[in-house]
Amino acid sequence: MNVLLTGANGQLGRCLVDRLQQNDRFKFTALDRQSLDISDIDQVKAIVADTEHDIIINAAAYTGVDKAETDVENARRVNEIGAANLAEIAKNLGVPLIHVSTDYVFDGHADKPYTETDSTGPTGVYGQTKLAGEAVIQSICPKHIILRTAWVYSEYGSNFVKTMLRLAETRDELNVVEDQTGCPTYAGDIADTILKICLGISTDTKWGIYHYVGAIQCTWAEFARTIFREAETLGILARKIVVHGIPSSAYPTQAERPKYSVLDCRKVVNAFDVLPIELKQSLPRMLEAFKRQQD
Ligand SMILES: NC(=O)c1ccc[n+]([C@@H]2O[C@H](COP(=O)([O-])OP(=O)(O)OC[C@H]3O[C@@H](n4cnc5c(N)ncnc54)[C@H](OP(=O)(O)O)[C@@H]3O)[C@@H](O)[C@H]2O)c1
Repeated sequence: MNVLLTGANGQLGRCLVDRLQQNDRFKFTALDRQSLDISDIDQVKAIVADTEHDIIINAAAYTGVDKAETDVENARRVNEIGAANLAEIAKNLGVPLIHVSTDYVFDGHADKPYTETDSTGPTGVYGQTKLAGEAVIQSICPKHIILRTAWVYSEYGSNFVKTMLRLAETRDELNVVEDQTGCPTYAGDIADTILKICLGISTDTKWGIYHYVGAIQCTWAEFARTIFREAETLGILARKIVVHGIPSSAYPTQAERPKYSVLDCRKVVNAFDVLPIELKQSLPRMLEAFKRQQD
């Protein structure tokens, strides 16, 4: 299968590249933002005219949740226009588009896991532009899989796990939000899931929206405690860090965070035989990969 991957330098993009390299069922072209700006339709057309692909995977996005509040046009350009450009190209080529979206399309006021048919209601610009991206893909490109995920971490880029480890270099105690609940999701597991979806696509495939997150739900404070425990076990951290749970109100951010971000994954499990992975399996794999980078 010949894959065109956009956003190849992000957390998810790099995890996808690692796995595409190791799987001889795929050939791929991986393009970072410098090689292809998805918001530029002429660039998108030129790249696609040059190469042949069976599927497009979009890992590119404007992901600055707080910055988006004051940088609305740029967020919209990438998350909506960029998504529309790729959808147009995928439709013209007759190939599927696999696109990644977010829990931020919901308002976070639920008290049970969100399903794909639950009402959306983003509270900030990032979520609004990601939701608009979903909508344009649905209206333009019949063969699409939109995979919503949340709380993404990996050995690459910036994320909560790496921030916690960095703060632990100089602090013995940390205050971490404990009134937001979600499912930490390793980008490596999302990448594995996407590749399994690619290989599972058939004439029976039900196109549309799917949810995929890690198997364990927790608060950010609980996640931080787990990170420090695992990092100590793996010898990444030499001492104990005390985590104090605080309310979101004590840690104001420009964009409101969803209080509850748990996504129900039964649809993707049933359709593509993939599994949400336990944090105790994925976090050590990410930390080991991170440790190898440091050595
Ligand atoms: N991170 C999370 O916690 C989270 C949660 C839920 C859903 N998601 C979704 O998961 C997907 C992957 O996120 P991620 O964590 O891997 O994000 P990321 O690390 O920020 O990667 C996004 C990549 O997109 C690239 N990009 C930005 N604008 C572009 C453009 N116009 N054309 C081409 N590439 C462009 C960025 O380029 P530069 O490297 O040059 O900046 C970056 O490499 C996104 O759809 C995101 O919305 C993420």
